[in-house]
Amino acid sequence: MSKDRLNFPDNFIWGTSTAGHQVEGGNEFSDWWAWEQKGLIEDGTVSGRAMDYWNRHEEDHALMASLAYKGFRLGIEWARVEPQKGYFDHAVIEHYRHILQSLRNHGFKICLTLHHWVIPRWVADQGDWLNPGTVNQFLRYAKFVIEELGTFPDFWVTMNEPMVPAIMGNVLGRFPPQRRSFRAYRAVSRAYLRAHAGTYHLIHKVQPLAPDGTRSKVGVAMAYPWIEPWNSPGPAGWYERFAAFIARRAAFEGWDHTIRTGKPHWIHGGPAITGVKNSYDYCGINYYTRTSLKFDRTRGDQYWIDDTKAPSGVDVTQMGWQIYPEGLYRTIRSVWKRFGKPILITENGIADDTDKQRPYYIIEHLAQVHRAIREGIPILGYYHWSFLDNFEWQKGFGKRFGLIAVKHDDPDLKRVPRPSAYLYSDIAQKNAITRKIVEAYTPRAVTMVFGN
Ligand code: BGC
Repeated sequence: MSKDRLNFPDNFIWGTSTAGHQVEGGNEFSDWWAWEQKGLIEDGTVSGRAMDYWNRHEEDHALMASLAYKGFRLGIEWARVEPQKGYFDHAVIEHYRHILQSLRNHGFKICLTLHHWVIPRWVADQGDWLNPGTVNQFLRYAKFVIEELGTFPDFWVTMNEPMVPAIMGNVLGRFPPQRRSFRAYRAVSRAYLRAHAGTYHLIHKVQPLAPDGTRSKVGVAMAYPWIEPWNSPGPAGWYERFAAFIARRAAFEGWDHTIRTGKPHWIHGGPAITGVKNSYDYCGINYYTRTSLKFDRTRGDQYWIDDTKAPSGVDVTQMGWQIYPEGLYRTIRSVWKRFGKPILITENGIADDTDKQRPYYIIEHLAQVHRAIREGIPILGYYHWSFLDNFEWQKGFGKRFGLIAVKHDDPDLKRVPRPSAYLYSDIAQKNAITRKIVEAYTPRAVTMVFGN
């Protein structure tokens, strides 16, 4: 390894990531839209016009191209495509086609998500994923999109972080539909597994080839927080270790086991799921943080676990999340061991309004990606979350994940690149992290990346 440069493989994709509902604006026929209107977002904002990517995509794509970014991850919104049951809006599909064509014209590697948590309101009204008809309705929507737009994506994400809404919406009651039931978690996660497996096979049937002529590449962008028990002394510590064991199973290990073996993990229960075995062509990793689980008898709402504390000396972000770059390396290794398939980092990023932490967050996480590559693990690319500031679910617009700053209350929604946007651009252009880049943007990371 050179003392001054970490080179990435040829054709490594330097991308950025977004999701429809968080940037497009106007997703009014969706469950989240309705939820926001109830005043349930922490800072009182609603997605509204969001960042108006729906209308400003040309400007955004030109900006990405000027920064030499090579890839873009975006989502299709089911609630837009099928705002009422059985009614497919062709104008919406044409609009998406236009967006995708523009991305293609710029030469970006496109990663397309078919489900990023949000569902049409009519699906929510029928009992969302607990309704036995929902999976087939999702597959009908997916088929329509694959037939219409299937020639564009280099990578497909059937589902984004399915276990996050399964847990947040069904166990912890913090996302719609605010259930608190392990039975619902189990039923919803099984529905997601069926929807994913069905979509995987549909893509291979309807659109067997990716734009580069190779077999289509289909996967899931899975959330892999690095979960650890706090290890308090005595019985509290036992409970924390038990909680961490369950949390890992519920958050990703159960899902991964089911995909790998085809046998539903006990956490998902029930009979076999058709077509689920081995239904990945690549593994999508969304990684942000380490979560330390601490017993707290006042947190009845969270099954007596506080997951917001950081061990002393650990930096935290604007979300209160621990910065733990090594967790990305450890996650990559365990996913590689589990599946032996190429890996795409589909999300990694930080809420940081002032851009003070983001430069070293990026450098330190990329250094961990490089460490895994050096060990021979095939990593195809890195899509940073996020291109733009956007609507951050529960928290609203106050949490700013963008390389590009946009103020939701700015009438012009002006796009202003943060220093990190240029840092990332320099890395993409050089296909390397160089000592010069690190010294220029975040000298504190020099020793970590290059040693002394
Ligand atoms: C989600 C994004 C979200 C980000 C930051 C990821 O879990 O896929 O939609 O904005 O985390 O919270």
